[in-house]
Amino acid sequence: MNRTPSAGMDPARFVDALIENPVGVLSADLPAASTDQALFVQRLGRHGPRLVDLFLTLYKDRADARKWLKRLFTIMAESWDRRSDDLRTLDRAREADPSWFQSEKMVGGVLYVDLFSDNLANLFEHIAYFKELDLTYLHLMPIFSVPHGDSDGGYAVSSYRAVNADLGTMKELTELARVLRGEGISLVLDFVFNHTSNEHEWARRARAGDPVYQGFYHTFADRTLPDQYERHLREIFPTVRRGNFSWDAQMRRWVWTTFNSFQWDLNYANPAVFCAMAEEMLYLANAGVEVLRLDAVAFIWKEMGTTCENLSGAHDIIQAFNAVARIAAPSLLFKSEAIVHPDQVLSYVAPEECPLSYNPMLMALIWEAAATRETRLLEHAVKKRERLPEGCSWVNYLRCHDDIGWTFDDEDARQLGIDPAAHRRFLNAFYTGNHPGSFARGVPFQYNPDTGDLRVSGTLASLAGLEQALDADDPVLIQMAVRRIMMMRSIMLSVGGIPLIYIGDEWGMLNDYTYLSDPAKVSDSRWVHRSRKKWHLQRSYSDPAALEWRFFNGLKEMIGLRKNLPALRNGGMEPFWTGNPHLFAYLRQAEGQQLLIVANFSEHGQVVSRDRLSGFPRESVFFDHIGKTHHPATADLALAPYQYMWLEVKDVR
Ligand code: GLC
Repeated sequence: MNRTPSAGMDPARFVDALIENPVGVLSADLPAASTDQALFVQRLGRHGPRLVDLFLTLYKDRADARKWLKRLFTIMAESWDRRSDDLRTLDRAREADPSWFQSEKMVGGVLYVDLFSDNLANLFEHIAYFKELDLTYLHLMPIFSVPHGDSDGGYAVSSYRAVNADLGTMKELTELARVLRGEGISLVLDFVFNHTSNEHEWARRARAGDPVYQGFYHTFADRTLPDQYERHLREIFPTVRRGNFSWDAQMRRWVWTTFNSFQWDLNYANPAVFCAMAEEMLYLANAGVEVLRLDAVAFIWKEMGTTCENLSGAHDIIQAFNAVARIAAPSLLFKSEAIVHPDQVLSYVAPEECPLSYNPMLMALIWEAAATRETRLLEHAVKKRERLPEGCSWVNYLRCHDDIGWTFDDEDARQLGIDPAAHRRFLNAFYTGNHPGSFARGVPFQYNPDTGDLRVSGTLASLAGLEQALDADDPVLIQMAVRRIMMMRSIMLSVGGIPLIYIGDEWGMLNDYTYLSDPAKVSDSRWVHRSRKKWHLQRSYSDPAALEWRFFNGLKEMIGLRKNLPALRNGGMEPFWTGNPHLFAYLRQAEGQQLLIVANFSEHGQVVSRDRLSGFPRESVFFDHIGKTHHPATADLALAPYQYMWLEVKDVR
């Protein structure tokens, strides 16, 4: 057999060679890629051996593993055939510049299409709005067809190929992706791959009794196995349903449902599921999606006797999907959504797994520091756990569509003399308005009476004190809330990674309590921070007396600054200990530029004593890009309440 793939070689024969002897392919000379087919074969040669290895490891106990592997290669080849010229051009550009997403020019936004513009057709009219904010990354919350009524905000997908008819069509989505790309904005969508809705075609067939499709899910005739699994599992949505399994009356079987009972967990131990989902993933990539947010990554692999979270099988599955993408849709990038222990969050981040990841620890600890006015835990944790592998980036956010959970490491807290359980209780009380003197208006989410666990819902502005201040009509409190919000934003935009704006926060959206009168939403407090875009407020963006103006223009200005400071490109941050427990500071450095960022988390003025700055040359001058002022390195640095500075260190010798 010819083991050296040549440009003219039939991919099917090449695949046989690859499965037979991946190492042989790896050591062979790959063809110069003069045609698109040769390029595909070349990518197969580069990433195929890894894929074969992962697949055959995952499915080592399955006699039909090779059959499914071949099916997977067929899926990739067919999908590549269908990929548009535009996207193939993008593939080449991204391969030539794999760190494109690490640029300081990257700024993201995320929104619900229905709440923002009613539907996809109207969204086209708002591209100018995204351009005004200078976004380069737009995440649309799930827009595919879902069951009527409660669909967990779209996270119960009934088809990965049909846009929810209320929102539009696949054709509009593809067109939107193309138009956005032309404007320099990458389209980001969710890949809700841990589960489908119970109305997905596969689930319907399973319920009708088809054993092939029952094998797509984890189904059980009785409680024997579920009870055994249950001993080690957490509960994610304990207020809507206890346990992790739901009885389906039509199928007359129990089915694994980590989240809601209408969200059926897929069974990735079945290679047919892997292949079917790879096909759906490539379909989305060919529609022009550039980044996929991999939803609920922690839960995709199950093993008896374990917590069924963050298992090595989950990593193998994602890495195998990643290899599929590298071969058949190379520009597709993965972002992981793992809201788990910080070390587990890190475990998903790698160029060959998810090069992008949400940064839930930083998010939670910014809120923690806002409540305590102390930055010790934030500083300590960031020092230990913020560093990512080369070629990867954080996605930094203050709020998103989900709740806030206090994901810090217990040992980090103990090392600082903080009792982690008591501290979480304090934070929950603080953010749900049960702590005297708290500025926050949050709403409890998913209280678990057995464990005492609680998370918090609410918008950035309401949690940061604006709602309460406006109700009290207190100008000083309003001022503090505004400054607090701006200060928190300044960290999101400068700390390293892609800042992600939860659309609505750009103008200071407050909590919206109307969900309480909607039966499909009332039991899920996250709807308090998922509200309709109030377009009439846009008028206020041009009225300097309006708060909306301050929020919107303040953000625009900060984004503009970020984009002109090469030190803010990705490349890590070094925490800088100021000696003042109310300040959070770090150094950013790139392309010969050095920035010292300092943020004051308290409502009182604070000082960085000059001794702390002695590491900088005596002749240095700090230029604050925010306040446009100069500060000598030899003097104390004074910050007003909630002030933040982006200080460029200039050696003026
Ligand atoms: C993710 C989503 C969340 C959803 C869950 C189940 O965590 O962010 O909104 O409820 O997955 O799909």
